[in-house]
Amino acid sequence: MSRSIEEELQEISGNGLLRTTRLISGRQSARVTHSGRDMLLLCSNNYLGLADRPELINAAVQAAESYGTSSGASRLVSGTMELHEQLENAVASFKQSEDALVFNSGHAANTGIIPAIVKRGDIVFSDRLNHASIVDGILLSGAKMIRYPHNDHVMLEQLLEKYRGKNRTLIVTDGVFSMDGDVAPLVELVALKQAYNALLMVDDAHGSGVLGECGRGSADQLGVADFVDIKMGTFGKALGSFGAYAAVTSEMRTLLVNRCRSFIFSTSLPPAVLGASLAAVRIVQSSEGDLLRDRIRANTEFFRRSLNDAGFIIPPGTTQIIPIITGSPETTMRFSEALLNDGIFAQGIRPPTVPAGSGRVRFTVMATHTPEELSWAVERIKNIGSNLGVI
Ligand SMILES: Cc1ncc(COP(=O)(O)O)c(C=O)c1O
Repeated sequence: MSRSIEEELQEISGNGLLRTTRLISGRQSARVTHSGRDMLLLCSNNYLGLADRPELINAAVQAAESYGTSSGASRLVSGTMELHEQLENAVASFKQSEDALVFNSGHAANTGIIPAIVKRGDIVFSDRLNHASIVDGILLSGAKMIRYPHNDHVMLEQLLEKYRGKNRTLIVTDGVFSMDGDVAPLVELVALKQAYNALLMVDDAHGSGVLGECGRGSADQLGVADFVDIKMGTFGKALGSFGAYAAVTSEMRTLLVNRCRSFIFSTSLPPAVLGASLAAVRIVQSSEGDLLRDRIRANTEFFRRSLNDAGFIIPPGTTQIIPIITGSPETTMRFSEALLNDGIFAQGIRPPTVPAGSGRVRFTVMATHTPEELSWAVERIKNIGSNLGVI
């Protein structure tokens, strides 16, 4: 007899892996209200603090007033509105690409784009720590997936050599790794893509808006943006809105429009979301964007240095994603609960999101945290770390 739902839940719970949602009341700011308490938010991807900016809120309201609440259909039926085209033009100009296509979410982009460009018989080389939506996209495509060790371009080259063939080859990587906060070796990956005649796709969900000139992302920071075939990014993180995009050539855009099932078979983004995204793209490229990036850089340096000095194990990295390794699911969740008791909202991350044994509390700093808030948090994190034997 097949196991019941109750048995399955007991199994998840028994392994210390049961997940639940935590409610936030009010806006997503640097401080939030949880269970009626004021808390410092230290795990949001709203890196630049744009999600509660008046410019975005007003743009969303205005877009809804002018265009209504829904697009009413998918893009290829009657769901392409002026705002979709305006946002695609704005993204192409922001990412300095020939063209762009907007998607309903980062997950929809990855599960749509990858099967649109590779199929059974093709090969995808995927970093072992790539985001789950990339893995889902590869599985959906039917292409052969070869996972290479994290950021190991030497091993990747050996694998490219071993599997060299006539079929289409795609190398895909996170630009900034979502759970580790390190940056992919994009200079080396571009050299490999050229040497092995492969396509290169970079998911810059966590780099866009934060890294590179004008926030153009990790490939721009490393000087290789022109050589990345598919520059994917999201609006739901540093850009404070929702949805995703691929910055590509016009030819690639046409292929995606024709082949990408998550684009073809889903109602397109609504006007309010598009309005907010347009406002975000404007802010990110402005002098205000530069100021916010200066602040997040300073906050990142302080927080990383303080936790490193305290003796926490932090994977090497330079970005605003700063995980401390806590190991077992039990310690991870005890750490996260203790933080909550002390007024810090930060989530423990357990398998299957991260490999077994590498449970962590994933902190993210925002441009809108004050130095005082971060110093206060560091002291509390150090206390909890030593009480739980993590440091
Ligand atoms: C690297 C990466 N890619 C894609 C996604 C999915 O994006 P979205 O939340 O817009 O679906 C995420 C996280 O959400 C991510 O961290």
